[in-house]
Amino acid sequence: MSILRVENLTKTYSSGGRELTVLHSVNFTLEPGDTFSIVGPSGSGKTTLLGLCAGLDRASSGSVYLNDIRLDTLNEDQRAAIRNQHVGFIFQNFQLLPTLTALENVMVPLELRGEKGAAKTAQSLLDRVGLGQRGHHYPTQLSGGEQQRVSLARAFANRPKLLFADEPTGNLDADTSATVVDLLFELNREAGTTLVLVTHDMELAARTQRIIRIKGGMVVNDRMTELLND
Ligand SMILES: Nc1ncnc2c1ncn2[C@@H]1O[C@H](COP(=O)(O)OP(=O)(O)OP(=O)(O)O)[C@@H](O)[C@H]1O
Ligand SMILES: [Mg+2]
Repeated sequence: MSILRVENLTKTYSSGGRELTVLHSVNFTLEPGDTFSIVGPSGSGKTTLLGLCAGLDRASSGSVYLNDIRLDTLNEDQRAAIRNQHVGFIFQNFQLLPTLTALENVMVPLELRGEKGAAKTAQSLLDRVGLGQRGHHYPTQLSGGEQQRVSLARAFANRPKLLFADEPTGNLDADTSATVVDLLFELNREAGTTLVLVTHDMELAARTQRIIRIKGGMVVNDRMTELLND
């Protein structure tokens, strides 16, 4: 059973009376535990693709199957329930809730699932990303890289089957970036989490099993990394 299947996915935005197709018939299938990178120039549709795969947005045509559940047949509440059950998301712009502290932000997915001991779990996740002492700070009191790490801790909170990360190391220095990347791959190894990364960092992409390159909303290359390394 595949964990994520994307079939003929197309997305067209209309704004100002004009239509802009930003994804053209994208196809791929991921199995549980796969690691996968999406690379391509700015504006090529990577964030749009990730949002559709995670059920945050709806396609214009084509389908996304998450754990064999077809997302486009669900309403917003049903998609939210699936996301909360199966999906973690690290956003390019973090999307932390500004009125909640770092610790409270990490607790959100745990509380949504009604888990006991949310504060303790959230605290240990903050410890793992090196922010154990900053739990009481609000997002505006944290640097970009720190906010990114809080967003990572939040994405890990419900031990998702599928983790989407949009430029997870985009704002981090080399050391912090290495820690974050290690955490991502640890989660993949320990919990069998499928990783889907968008990155401009080809070294990071090369650590995943498979890389697709998109350009102008089209997949121009899709290959296994061991073939690249030959
Ligand atoms: N809501 C929207 N309405 C209209 N156009 C949009 C909307 N959201 C995104 N776009 C356009 O879709 C295209 C793809 O955007 P997307 O954010 O997916 O690119 P990206 O590959 O993630 O780029 P980057 O590397 O800069 O993050 C861009 O041209 C963008 O302007
Ligand atoms: Mg983007």
